Amino acid sequence: MSQRDTLRVELGARSYDIVVGAGLLADAGSLIAPVVRQKRAVIVTDENVAKLHLKSLQAGLDKAKIAHHAIVLPPGEATKDFAHFSKLCEDVLALGIERGTPLIALGGGVIGDLTGFAAGVLKRGVAFAQVPTTLLAQVDSSVGGKTAINARQGKNLIGLFHQPKIVIADVGLLSTLPRRELLAGYAEVVKYGALGDADFFDWLEASAAIALGGDEAALTHAVAQSCRMKAAIVARDERETGERALLNLGHTFGHALEAATGFSDRLLHGEGVAIGMALAFRLSHRLGLCPGQDAERFARHLQAMGLPAAICDIPGPRATAEELLGHMAHDKKVADGKLTFILLRGIGRAFVTSDVPVDAVRDILAD
Ligand SMILES: NC(=O)c1ccc[n+]([C@@H]2O[C@H](COP(=O)([O-])OP(=O)(O)OC[C@H]3O[C@@H](n4cnc5c(N)ncnc54)[C@H](O)[C@@H]3O)[C@@H](O)[C@H]2O)c1
Repeated sequence: MSQRDTLRVELGARSYDIVVGAGLLADAGSLIAPVVRQKRAVIVTDENVAKLHLKSLQAGLDKAKIAHHAIVLPPGEATKDFAHFSKLCEDVLALGIERGTPLIALGGGVIGDLTGFAAGVLKRGVAFAQVPTTLLAQVDSSVGGKTAINARQGKNLIGLFHQPKIVIADVGLLSTLPRRELLAGYAEVVKYGALGDADFFDWLEASAAIALGGDEAALTHAVAQSCRMKAAIVARDERETGERALLNLGHTFGHALEAATGFSDRLLHGEGVAIGMALAFRLSHRLGLCPGQDAERFARHLQAMGLPAAICDIPGPRATAEELLGHMAHDKKVADGKLTFILLRGIGRAFVTSDVPVDAVRDILAD
């Protein structure tokens, strides 16, 4: 049998398992059955994932005698809007679901966020399972219970916390993911090493290339270790009143870069986070908080993996420092007019601060 790792997100009555390994879809039914009340489920997925992996999930549910119905949505961020959300809710209700009928999100972060939000409000809350199919979704969006859709005013502005009953992260599914998407998800993996686990960062320097090359044991370790860190942080701070903010390392810069490139193909979210983390290291060094060699080592690793590590790595015209500062002022993480940054005292030693001189930020953005 292939290697499997099961971790627990400890949230009292809302605790749940994250199961990580290769070939898990075949056992999805027996994994889901013990944590839901009905032997019936509604799968929500997108067209790309449906073509590649829906049959395997359905076969896994059949094996455990769980009846199922699939709803297939268009792929892409545009699906996380009100129109798709309301249609999804009505399509699910039209199937005559009961409060005990779980939804199963089979897809990347878009499907996970949309399905989780629908599960949170349908019938005032139905159970749901996350079956993430992108690396980003396996290590980040499927864990922790944040669900949302986008508004005209910004991304993820309408949502709620609704924890899944189980997360099934089948690393075998990542073999069909385009390389660029895989690498963008890897930015979130390396984030965990950078923010709180220097040993994991050492391991990634040695083994990430093997993992992303398709070695399932290495990939299982990378995903499980990432989930372990996220699960521990979420257990201590489910609603992001403190420590959970560390998970935003690189995101204040990253979101500004995404906004400046119009949330287009020029820069994927994970690529923005990669550059954002490298900038956070450089800002920390500039402020005398972090050794220059750690900042350089971090950027070198991103480059070795094929990820961008500087603003000039983004194709097309470069945004000015003022433009980027303008985008940061609109960030969700602004509180009382002050920007919150996650800075570093070294690799594995991140902390939250809202005490950063704007001139230092401007210098970093203009470098
Ligand atoms: N809830 C959270 O905590 C949280 C955290 C981070 C990001 N997010 C959200 O996640 C979303 C991004 O997620 P994403 O990067 O997974 O994007 P995505 O869901 O759009 O997936 C990316 C692309 O890969 C395709 N795909 C998915 N799995 C595949 C597979 N196994 N093989 C081939 N193609 C596959 C999809 O169809 C899509 O075209 C954003 O909306 C973001 O806001 C949420």
